[in-house]
Amino acid sequence: MSLGQEMVVVLDFGGKYTQMIARRIRECKVFCEILPYNIGVDKLRNKNPKGIVFSGGPADGGAENAPPVDDAIYRLEIPILAVGYGMQMMARQLGGKISGDVQLAEGKKTLEITANSRLLAGLETKEECWVSQGHSVEELPQGFAPVARSEDNRALAMEDPDKKLYAMQFHPEVAHTPKGKQVLQNFLYDICRCSDAWTMSSFLRQSVAEVQAKAGDKKVLCALSGGVDSSVAAVLVHRAVGDNLTCVFVDNGLLRKGEAEQVINTFREKFNMNLIHVDARERFLNKLAGVTDPERKRKIIGEEFIRLFEEEAKKLGQIDYLVQGTVYPDVVESGTAAAGVIKSHHNVGGLPEDMQFDLIEPLRWLFKDEVRLLGEELGLPEEVVWRQPFPGPGLAVRCLGEVTEEKLAVLREADAIVTDEIKKAGLDREIWQYFAVLPNIKSVGVKGDRRTYVWTVGVRAIHSSDGMTAQWAHIPYQVLDSISTRICKEIEQVNRVVYDITAKPPSTIEWE
Ligand code: XMP
Repeated sequence: MSLGQEMVVVLDFGGKYTQMIARRIRECKVFCEILPYNIGVDKLRNKNPKGIVFSGGPADGGAENAPPVDDAIYRLEIPILAVGYGMQMMARQLGGKISGDVQLAEGKKTLEITANSRLLAGLETKEECWVSQGHSVEELPQGFAPVARSEDNRALAMEDPDKKLYAMQFHPEVAHTPKGKQVLQNFLYDICRCSDAWTMSSFLRQSVAEVQAKAGDKKVLCALSGGVDSSVAAVLVHRAVGDNLTCVFVDNGLLRKGEAEQVINTFREKFNMNLIHVDARERFLNKLAGVTDPERKRKIIGEEFIRLFEEEAKKLGQIDYLVQGTVYPDVVESGTAAAGVIKSHHNVGGLPEDMQFDLIEPLRWLFKDEVRLLGEELGLPEEVVWRQPFPGPGLAVRCLGEVTEEKLAVLREADAIVTDEIKKAGLDREIWQYFAVLPNIKSVGVKGDRRTYVWTVGVRAIHSSDGMTAQWAHIPYQVLDSISTRICKEIEQVNRVVYDITAKPPSTIEWE
């Protein structure tokens, strides 16, 4: 971000905990940015960071080709905290020695503090910590003092306070290092002299000013899905440009029960925003008629959305900017040099590549949980802020086989019951996603003294932190029982409810 705020940079060596470090730093109310490890010193200096953190990474600190930082970074006189692989790299680059064959195994270790250290102030002499796998530092670079070691006498922390260089083999950002937050606070507040001024309200003020500066009195367009990201982005931009923002909300007929009404209500009534409501339910259903292949379904929905959006945009005349709800993990994952895994972006509901707009991406600095906090700050209703992730192709990927109005109606009712029961049980913020699926199965049952041959409903509830992997949620039997009883009682065309007990992998979260 600009506007001269205090910040810390995390240099990313591709570690699985890199984003976690950034989140922990922000939890300490210090803004931080993740940048590639191989950024040149000039670019880094231009960011004017008050501190630099080297993330851990999968590379082998002992290997010839281990990725280094630009060594001029060590001479910037900006405090550096090197974590995990970062410590090995710092040691190597400054003339220390890495262990040969001996490797540290990933896991909990007892850390023993062996010297006074501002970085480790407030910790007991012995603390638990989490060490990632890798070589250890055998010989410290000149000028460095050892400050903590493991029980098997490996260096766990070293520092050269005169040069403001600090390194540790353990990870302060993970929950397995109980005093990790204290260590980060010591680094940020005591060593880097950061203040704890970065809050959602300061971010909001700054973002609104930035959007105003960028958009001026030009026209801005936003595709509003009703999901958390697009909703928060739209309300923020509205605060900045008011009526110059027009939102387009497409009801594709694949939304959950009450969702369209809620979107219209929230944005038109509560926020008084320009909202074009496109009722395209029939159009989408007609396009989907007779289609059973999951990929075809997705493709049709994506293309139809783009067509519709273009039609609406054309009607509006000159539009200069488009709002996108891009969030920070997308920016980091597609932008850093070392991140090994690039998330496969779901482009359904995405926008045409050849549309000529400049982008306004007010959330591009925020992690998902921060977007929710910003939503609260903006006064968005709880149901919007805490809404679970919902796929672009909507209920179509939960309605297996052909999508028909009849099947959608059953699915919508069943889904509303699942949601209601999970909420009543107080599990709605604990479970990442919970929903009903209609697996296109009819089976025999009995209701009263009548034989029935009607639909089976599947219930899916999973824990996840990013949607990339998931575990099925161990919902209490009692809650499952209420869900099943209510679905069969309240929905005439259902006589069987099954619970999906598969993790991702091997399954996916959605059924199609
Ligand atoms: P899967 O089913 O791939 O889902 O395990 C992972 C996460 O992504 C959501 N999802 C989508 N989101 N457009 C989206 O915006 C899509 O086409 C789409 N497909 C799946 C899914 O709900 C889960 O959170």
